[in-house]
Amino acid sequence: MERKRIEISPGEIENQKRIIARLRAKFEKRERPLRAFVDTYGCQQNEADSEKIRGMLFEMGCVFTREEADADIVVINTCAVREHAEMRILGNVGALSHTKKANKEQMIILCGCMVQAPGMAERIKKSYPYVDLVFGPQVLWRFPELLERRLNSKKRVFEVTDEAGAIAEGLPVRRDGTVKAWLSVMYGCNNFCSYCIVPYVRMRERSRRPEVILEEARQLVKEGYKDITLLGQNVNSYGKDLPEDIDFADLIRMINDIEGDFVIRFMTSHPKDASEKLFKTMSECEKAARHIHLPFQAGNNRVLKEMNRVYTREQYLEKARLARKYMPDIVLTSDVIVGFPGETDEEFEDTVSLIEEVRFDALFTFIYSKRPGTPAAKMPDPYTRAQKQVRFDKLLDTQNRISAEKHAEYVGKTVRVLTDGRADGETTSRTGGGRLVRIKGELPVGEYMNVKITDSTTWALFGEAVAEE
Ligand code: SAH
Ligand code: SF4
Ligand code: F3S
Repeated sequence: MERKRIEISPGEIENQKRIIARLRAKFEKRERPLRAFVDTYGCQQNEADSEKIRGMLFEMGCVFTREEADADIVVINTCAVREHAEMRILGNVGALSHTKKANKEQMIILCGCMVQAPGMAERIKKSYPYVDLVFGPQVLWRFPELLERRLNSKKRVFEVTDEAGAIAEGLPVRRDGTVKAWLSVMYGCNNFCSYCIVPYVRMRERSRRPEVILEEARQLVKEGYKDITLLGQNVNSYGKDLPEDIDFADLIRMINDIEGDFVIRFMTSHPKDASEKLFKTMSECEKAARHIHLPFQAGNNRVLKEMNRVYTREQYLEKARLARKYMPDIVLTSDVIVGFPGETDEEFEDTVSLIEEVRFDALFTFIYSKRPGTPAAKMPDPYTRAQKQVRFDKLLDTQNRISAEKHAEYVGKTVRVLTDGRADGETTSRTGGGRLVRIKGELPVGEYMNVKITDSTTWALFGEAVAEE
């Protein structure tokens, strides 16, 4: 069957675990434990991958440090989505030449999306001779084997393959938080938006089996996690490649049925297949957060077509309306790109008017970044960076005003929040819709409580805890 080919066999995973045990025995002979530093760029998918890398390193007996200079093993899990991210990463890799000089034994490892981008592995090979091991996202599950190979040879190891991408179950995980957890439901992307590198580095869409997802969700709830985010580049495609008849809405309902006090979130949904069934299911599932992140990217139909987003402005507005019909209190957030090749000032105004029309709670705004190898990289791009910056600033001003107005509407209301951190006499928390609420006083973390909102800004709500009725 189709599935067998994309799922790594249990025997192969066992083999990696045997290598982990072998490395552990080797490392235990050292005077002190190996110190590892894992740095993550990019999206939640990468955060989740880094938790697996940490899981494997932990099983090898490593301890973790927050300083590159202090580390015996440095892992940089990279992102390629915009040039800015790449520049920062390469700058940091450049700085590692100093730490390596100070500690010749230091093992420098680059992995993640950037190393999979066209030409990048070659560039690293040439320009960063002190990087020991480079591997792409498709072979993450073979990290123990690749590390062992590097340790046993004098040669650097580059493992960046064109594999279609697989699913590896049963790898150890070491999660960052105790309240919030990532739960990948699918990997890859088939959408090929014309500006985006992700489908080229994360390969084709593939869904994890529902029973493994449910088992992981049950385990998270048992361990006390209160906020579970289901991850995928486009979670609404979930199940399309599975033999069983299941979609993302069904999956939400199954997770909702797990007993316990927790919230279900998800990232990200592509508007083209955010269905009425999804909104209806969310409205019927008490654990589904009243939040949907629905990137629109542009408000003009010609630009949307050039972006290959396969929906129109009108269809997007209809989706937003439907979401609100089922959940009037839904928090809507979105991503938008300014300055796509050839986007005119008039076309940009359609983006501004879409924002005014929908009134998002928050927006992630990006200036278009040319990604070699994508179709948009070949499109004429006559507008200057400065012209795009003017539009970007206008967008930000518009959204900041709307966010501030939306936040002001909370003042005087009591909201239910989950606390997630403490600092300077305050407790930070999030509403079901993901809005940041700063509560007076240092309160327990990882608990639900009611908070009366007393003040607000563009970025946050402020309030005081009130006793449960
Ligand atoms: N799969 C997600 C997006 C992942 S990338 C989705 O489709 O919703 C996150 C965001 O980065 C995108 O939504 C887009 O707004 C932005 N982005 C992607 N490629 C970009 C590029 N080349 N230049 C600028 N922004 C980009
Ligand atoms: Fe990129 Fe589009 Fe896929 Fe999102 S849906 S990851 S923007 S190609
Ligand atoms: Fe970046 Fe890869 Fe995520 S390119 S945004 S880390 S999928």
